[in-house]
Amino acid sequence: MKAIAATDQTAGTAGMKLVELPEPRAAINDVVVQVHAAGFVNTELISGLTAWQGLFQHGRIKAGQSVLAHGAAGAVGSMVAQLAREAGAYVIGTGRAADRQKALDFGANEFLDLAKDTLEDVGGVDLVFDVIGGDFQKRSATLVRAGGILVTVVGPTDIRPADGLTVDFVVEADRPQLSEIVQRIRDGRLRTNIGKVSSLDDAIGTFNSTDRRAGKTVIRVRP
Ligand SMILES: NC(=O)c1ccc[n+]([C@@H]2O[C@H](COP(=O)([O-])OP(=O)(O)OC[C@H]3O[C@@H](n4cnc5c(N)ncnc54)[C@H](OP(=O)(O)O)[C@@H]3O)[C@@H](O)[C@H]2O)c1
Repeated sequence: MKAIAATDQTAGTAGMKLVELPEPRAAINDVVVQVHAAGFVNTELISGLTAWQGLFQHGRIKAGQSVLAHGAAGAVGSMVAQLAREAGAYVIGTGRAADRQKALDFGANEFLDLAKDTLEDVGGVDLVFDVIGGDFQKRSATLVRAGGILVTVVGPTDIRPADGLTVDFVVEADRPQLSEIVQRIRDGRLRTNIGKVSSLDDAIGTFNSTDRRAGKTVIRVRP
């Protein structure tokens, strides 16, 4: 561990600004820990922003529509599930069997175990939010109803629904949207997806671990 960068403790929603850059500047292979003021980590904000842009900006989801939220216990997927549900959509979350309860707790109305259940049994959906790609993306495209959309964040793709759109995008900084996310985290409408919390002393071991990670890793700087 060499570098610690801390955000302004008083900056609130503007807390993405680094105010305490390490000297000497971090080398590319240093571990950089960012400490944020408001009790959530900025990766949550990026995941939230990604979900927001996919659902509302690109997907134009509306109340009463249905969303297939892949990886619904993961960082982006858990935000997709929560935001889509809040917007009045019916959410089918997917993932591994072990994540069923977590996905339901994040707001999925139902859960599909990708290893055991048959994706095609879902029937038609208005929006697929893809965070996995590959064969699951291809098969999910066939579920998109006429006029619906496949939104993916795993890179450019040629896969298209028969009578719908595909949008692949890279999340962009957007202050008003970020404020929407922060507001929801503060008032409890959005729950963060924190996994392991480890001490600074254990940070390198934690990051180097090959164990399956569930949720975002937090390194606690103060004991
Ligand atoms: N374009 C953008 O702007 C943008 C923004 C954010 C993220 N991304 C990309 O989006 C992807 C997801 O990011 P994330 O942070 O949400 O990752 P994550 O926290 O690991 O979430 C992915 C979820 O999908 C599950 N999953 C993956 N493959 C699966 C499979 N074959 N069967 C069942 N479940 C599976 C994972 O389970 P396991 O953990 O058990 O594998 C995990 O729960 C990454 O490729 C990331 O680079 C792109």
